[in-house]
Amino acid sequence: MREGNFEAVSVSVAGIAQAVDGALEQYGRDPTLLLQILRVTQAVLGYLPAAALTRVAAALGLPRARVEGVAGFYSFLHLQPVGRYRVLFSDNITDRMLGSAELMARLCNKLWLERGKMSEDGLVSVDTTSCTGLCDQGPALLVNDRVLTRLSAERVDRIAELIRAQTPVADWPADYFRVEDNIRRRDVLLGGDWLAGEAIRAALARGADSMLAEMKLSNLRGRGGAGFTTAIKWESARLAPCHGDQPMRYVVCNADEGEPGTFKDRVLLSSYADLVFDGMTVAGLTIGAAQGLLYLRGEYVYLLPALQANLAQRRRDGLLGRHVGGQPGFDFEIDIHVGAGAYVCGEETALLESLEGKRGVPRVRPPFPVTHGYLGQPTVVNNVETLCKAALIAQKGGAWFAGLGTKQSTGTKLLSISGDVENPGIYEYPFGVSVTQVLNDCGAGNAQAVQVSGASGLCLATQEFARRIAFEDVPTAGAFMVFGAHRDMFEVARNFAHFFAHESCGFCTPCRVGTSLVANFMDKIANGHGSQYEINEIFKIHRLLHVASHCGLGQAACNPLFDTLQKFRPAYERRLRSLDFEPAFDLDQALAAARQMTGRDDPGAHFGLQARVQEVQP
Ligand SMILES: Cc1cc2nc3c(=O)[nH]c(=O)nc-3n(C[C@H](O)[C@H](O)[C@H](O)COP(=O)(O)O)c2cc1C
Ligand code: SF4
Repeated sequence: MREGNFEAVSVSVAGIAQAVDGALEQYGRDPTLLLQILRVTQAVLGYLPAAALTRVAAALGLPRARVEGVAGFYSFLHLQPVGRYRVLFSDNITDRMLGSAELMARLCNKLWLERGKMSEDGLVSVDTTSCTGLCDQGPALLVNDRVLTRLSAERVDRIAELIRAQTPVADWPADYFRVEDNIRRRDVLLGGDWLAGEAIRAALARGADSMLAEMKLSNLRGRGGAGFTTAIKWESARLAPCHGDQPMRYVVCNADEGEPGTFKDRVLLSSYADLVFDGMTVAGLTIGAAQGLLYLRGEYVYLLPALQANLAQRRRDGLLGRHVGGQPGFDFEIDIHVGAGAYVCGEETALLESLEGKRGVPRVRPPFPVTHGYLGQPTVVNNVETLCKAALIAQKGGAWFAGLGTKQSTGTKLLSISGDVENPGIYEYPFGVSVTQVLNDCGAGNAQAVQVSGASGLCLATQEFARRIAFEDVPTAGAFMVFGAHRDMFEVARNFAHFFAHESCGFCTPCRVGTSLVANFMDKIANGHGSQYEINEIFKIHRLLHVASHCGLGQAACNPLFDTLQKFRPAYERRLRSLDFEPAFDLDQALAAARQMTGRDDPGAHFGLQARVQEVQP
């Protein structure tokens, strides 16, 4: 049975055994590869039947509960049947601004389907998923692991026809799956003239000590969000003792890119993969690691064949494997692990858990990954762009890199620009560029706000557009979502509130409960039942999440609400029914279905009205 061919498969006992055994043959009986084994099994069967979990558990020697726990954690793994065509609309705010909600309703309508439910014949299910990293060419959707871009009403109608005709996804028009790089501004990385392996040869010529010295000189800071100095991370891992019988160090490339509005890593992996792999190999040489692991988000699994072909070519070219670059004693391999729809797995310790085949729950820190990372060994975890920058530093030196950008934020930064702009796409700027400059370049005529660094970042209003993109002013992992004057900033914040409630891993109570409460408060306000009480509660939960959450997800979850409440208060206030308190539960509204069923809709059948009727009766 071919992976991803479940449109034509019925799940039988023999089929389950064949699918599981195929996955085990591909990955071996290694418990750290549990997520990969489950992913590949599901790609054949369409979902993970109980018998498949039992067979996997037995083969790997794991408790069945552990296997089910992992399968239940990731939103792209299903314990119940889903449609043979599984359609997931990207639900980022930029997709919504491009009409994704209306397009999803249209598809459901055409297919006579309720969102979130499978059709009775098991043919199709339609739902939403968090940002798919295609904001520059949305609205976008995933269908059975493939991404579709630039959706329109016509395209959606045609998709409904293709599904009804049971046309295999592989035979749908190729143009539907076209993903463009949309590179709009190039600087030293995107415009550089480098060749595969050049960075490795330069690093080998320097030697590990000098390479580390160049990294220090460069003052490169991580591009994944936190901005930690890369050389310190590399040096710590290099100096940390290895543990156990199989001493190893690891280099992990964080390609989870789940932050809403971010898609620059997608472009680097699509068109600059050699630079990413060169950077990983340079890191391996510098810290003394023999193994690299690239964690690719599940939404980007369509990139996997090309990435694997690239790795195979590099092996043939002597850029991977034994004696890399002809250097005796320097062996380095790279494997790719694919995620399965969990934003929290971008957090580096959750990512390590996921790489080890577990639920992606962030670890308690310290110890930090540099001393106790993958399988307890010293590990550097770096963002895709950070590793590309390291490859450039290997070639051109730390002083050259430090000469770009600002003193505290050296080099350039890739921005993923989307929203109300004429030219969405990837823009590379030296750090220090002003927000106004970026807005002018991308054709944002009437911006009222920019959400920098995704849902967990900063919402800037017009009076702040003179600020600069740099760690010392406006730090960013890369997202730059622009909102025109006609946009409702309350709805922007509500979308982010739902994103965090959906993505909370549930490990700690403040985040698990707080993010859901906040999403409910935002819905209550949206439905016209909000009051000052809800606003006060949001502020309270914001403070609580900041101090009591276990990881960065919870700590940042209320940031967009806090910012928009400070800067776009009227967008909230015009929805508030009273400045006091409104009950969350609308009893009269809840009884609407009962009134419809009984055919009784007189004033006495309404709660509020009944009270008023009684008041006027003698
Ligand atoms: C909830 C959450 C999600 C994250 N997602 C990503 C991600 O998708 N990619 C990434 O590089 N870093 C992400 N990070 C930051 C990582 O934890 C880590 O700081 C980063 O990978 C380190 O790489 P760098 O030093 O090269 O920036 C995330 C952090 C949190 C708290
Ligand atoms: S803060 Fe949220 S995402 Fe992070 S560990 Fe706690 S529940 Fe999970």
